[in-house]
Amino acid sequence: MCGIVGILGTHEVAPSLVEALRRLEYRGYDSAGIATLNDGHLDRRRAVGKLVNLSDLLVHDPLPGKAGIGHTRWATHGAPTVTNAHPHKAGPVAVVHNGIIENFRALREELAAHGLRPESETDTETVALLTQHHMAQGLSPVAAADRTLARLEGAFALVFLFDGEEDLLVAARKGSPLAIGHGKGEMYVGSDAIALASLTGQITYLEEGDRAVLTRSSLTIQDAAGAPALREMREVRLDAARIDKGGHKHFMAKEIAEQPTVIAQTMQTYLGADGRSIVLPGDGVDFSQISRLSLVACGTAFFACMTAKYWFERIAGLPVDIDIASEFRYREPPITPGTVALFVSQSGETADTLAALRYCAGRADRILSVVNVPESSIARESALSLPTHAGPEIGVASTKAFTCQLTVLLLLALKAGHDRGHLSDDALAEKLSSLRALPSLVNTALGASDALKAVAEDLAQAEDVLFLGRGAMYPLAHEGALKLKEISYIHAEAYASGELKHGPIALIDAHLPVIVLAPHDRLFDKTVSNMQEVMARGGKVVLLTDSRGHAAAKEGLWHHAIFPQVSEELAPILYAIPAQLLAYHTAVAKGTDVDQPRNLAKSVTVE
Ligand code: F6R
Repeated sequence: MCGIVGILGTHEVAPSLVEALRRLEYRGYDSAGIATLNDGHLDRRRAVGKLVNLSDLLVHDPLPGKAGIGHTRWATHGAPTVTNAHPHKAGPVAVVHNGIIENFRALREELAAHGLRPESETDTETVALLTQHHMAQGLSPVAAADRTLARLEGAFALVFLFDGEEDLLVAARKGSPLAIGHGKGEMYVGSDAIALASLTGQITYLEEGDRAVLTRSSLTIQDAAGAPALREMREVRLDAARIDKGGHKHFMAKEIAEQPTVIAQTMQTYLGADGRSIVLPGDGVDFSQISRLSLVACGTAFFACMTAKYWFERIAGLPVDIDIASEFRYREPPITPGTVALFVSQSGETADTLAALRYCAGRADRILSVVNVPESSIARESALSLPTHAGPEIGVASTKAFTCQLTVLLLLALKAGHDRGHLSDDALAEKLSSLRALPSLVNTALGASDALKAVAEDLAQAEDVLFLGRGAMYPLAHEGALKLKEISYIHAEAYASGELKHGPIALIDAHLPVIVLAPHDRLFDKTVSNMQEVMARGGKVVLLTDSRGHAAAKEGLWHHAIFPQVSEELAPILYAIPAQLLAYHTAVAKGTDVDQPRNLAKSVTVE
């Protein structure tokens, strides 16, 4: 989604604004722009498409100035055009915005009555016009911004820059995060700490409803009630190297390759010193006191929840509901006593997941979350947040965050099994010992990359692809299909293998590749029967399995790839690797924009 940056600098700020926007590219965008105070006057440059277009524009038409704001826009109101691109300017004020102003139509009509009309189709321009209107009534820039903020409904992060105000930025947060960065004689604001990573590691996170006034030497914050507020400054270690491609062609490739390390890192924080127990942060969770677990998330994080349902129910006998957050929040489901709600999110800012969490607050016994960004809204609004330690995930398609989410969820399911008397001390210790082998198994699975690249060359020719899986491999079939469609734009669907006969088998022909995720487990023979039904109808099967599975079912395959033998519990994590690699290599073969696929945003902060 949109990315925001603001700098009060001691040097020319245009290059730093563009560099900060580059760090926000991972969020997804379709136009970009910056505004500075050029000789004390607001001036701006905006371009449609990738940042390189904005950089080119700045080469031909530089933008001097030591104070500025910048924005990457992911279109919501109005097409990605230069006119709709941010910053939006109205008289003496320029504004960048992330989120949606829900009452912008009513405000626009009100402004029209004063002769103030927008140039663009955006909701954001209304904010600039309203502030211009308040300044024309004699209010100071800060007072005008405050009066504007009081009129806005919806979710937003906003930064204001004013004509003639060389040492002033106003920033406000309601629903969308904002981080303030402290430099030496400089001050910054950004959508997240990643944006500011090359400028500073000293960060103050604004809280919900906060409004901040920044100068080069001061930061003044007031809370939602207008009272002065002190927010802690912390050292955020996001060294620039961690957000480089590290020699890989794409962030996604780097993030896929990082999985052995980040899974180990994540696992390590939850294992007791004796290696036989699971230790949760804070006051932990006693699963013997829980009668139902409600798992809620969006997209890939939802497929992690779907996988976890298999684990919790089978390992711990704990009933689990799973929900897509956008459905859950409006369905208003009854939350019965004894229910604990757990929200899973990489960014921790997904609007629907956050709204679902807020619905459960006060209804569920407890709110838990599994989140990759510890400072995020979802983490902060949970009674207990369980971090994944995947590090910043820049590729829009989630990879390492997914396997780290699965790792934490599996650890929770094992703890639940133990707490509820389904696993003895020794049985838990044994499961943990096999879990410790996971990073090296994932490393071995990464070795299949070249074999999968060859499969991908053929897959890239397809228009549709079917993914099949049974048991806990069924959610992974969904994840494989989602990965493929989002980055290669090939239409892909997932079915539980047993559902094939109930409809989708009608699609099978020689043009439809069918990817079967089937380790040699207790359900293998059933999946092989489904696979044979596909081949008997001329279907082209790609079998992802282990050596036993391959030995038992190699006849008639179009392609196959072999992975290490693992327990049923570990299989969904291990087989996530080929699902990701197949999508990655197919996208590369098709030449699509792997890290920033069209229309997609990394952090979906609007519904
Ligand atoms: C797919 C993907 C998305 C996210 C979804 C939820 O590769 O990344 O489906 O999983 O938008 O995002 P988070 O996990 O940030 O809540």
